[in-house]
Amino acid sequence: MTFHAMTCTALTGPRSLRLQTYPSPPMESGKVRIAVRACGVNYPDLLMTYGRYQLRLEPPFVPGMEVAGEVLETGPGVEDVKAGDHVIASTRANGYAEQVVIDRNLVFHLPPGFTHAEGATFSVASRTAYHALVDRGNLQAGETLLVLGATGGVGLTAVELGKLRGARVIAVGSSDEKLAVARQQGADAVVNYLHQDFRQAVRDLTGDAGVDVVYDPVGGQLSTESARLLAWGGRLLIIGFASGAFPELRANHALIKGYSVIGVRAGESGRRNPEQARRGMEALRQLAAQGHLKPHLCAQYSLGNAAEALEALENRRVTGRIALLP
Ligand SMILES: NC(=O)c1ccc[n+]([C@@H]2O[C@H](COP(=O)([O-])OP(=O)(O)OC[C@H]3O[C@@H](n4cnc5c(N)ncnc54)[C@H](OP(=O)(O)O)[C@@H]3O)[C@@H](O)[C@H]2O)c1
Repeated sequence: MTFHAMTCTALTGPRSLRLQTYPSPPMESGKVRIAVRACGVNYPDLLMTYGRYQLRLEPPFVPGMEVAGEVLETGPGVEDVKAGDHVIASTRANGYAEQVVIDRNLVFHLPPGFTHAEGATFSVASRTAYHALVDRGNLQAGETLLVLGATGGVGLTAVELGKLRGARVIAVGSSDEKLAVARQQGADAVVNYLHQDFRQAVRDLTGDAGVDVVYDPVGGQLSTESARLLAWGGRLLIIGFASGAFPELRANHALIKGYSVIGVRAGESGRRNPEQARRGMEALRQLAAQGHLKPHLCAQYSLGNAAEALEALENRRVTGRIALLP
């Protein structure tokens, strides 16, 4: 038995991806074999094709952090998942494939009412937003949350989760059209930093109070300016650097305002503290079962068009999420 997977053949970006054939790996105890019906496309996949992600894999490798599909078979010791079940799985890599074999503890049942494409784009963004806002940021009902990159994958999910946690949410992005989607996901206010004076627009919305929590997957200038908007005791959650630049943060401002800069790594935290990750995933699954947190999918691509999908992400043509369909 063989299967196809999109393989990164050089660290030169998405165009190095090639469809290659692999032998199906043998089953082992505690493992689940999944016929992949959809793969989530994440920003870290893009970084991996350039060798710029913290997990630096040497080519040839198959990117893809998350999938959804149908269980084909299970190894000895797996009892609560069976052939024919529809599931989602966190793969970290290897997801851009027709088939994956993965540990049972990384597999969850597809949330009710979700398509495979929605399931394949659920875990990374929702886990990141939950770990950031709840585990690390301690976001409280009534607080003001400023979400940078609010039109992208992890940002749009944070908008919805922030509202579900009772915060007042200000969504920040570069186009009115994309920000309209953030409004639909519940944002109380939006700021288009290309057309507005960013700091003044946020100050107009918060008065002198400032914002309690900044959720920042963007970095660079926006992040530097957001730190100036923090309230006393605020939290700046560092999620990523989609702008390609690190912010310049002034330690004396942190002291004067008593704010904290908090690094967030959802995946690594889950590997180091699986019990906390399990509780978070359970909370997210309950919200999904109640009809929340369904990913906003703006496009779907065939597996062979993974390069086009990653380039759409790279060129900021994506609102919310995109998926590959093997
Ligand atoms: N810490 C974690 O656990 C974790 C987990 C997953 C992802 N991440 C990181 O989070 C970041 C965002 O990931 P994502 O999947 O949400 O990506 P995404 O869907 O591409 O969203 C990124 C958003 O950032 C904004 N942006 C601003 N300046 C940009 C620039 N120069 N280039 C590209 N985008 C820019 C874009 O919104 P506008 O065009 O509207 O400005 C875009 O929607 C990445 O750095 C990723 O590695 C971190």
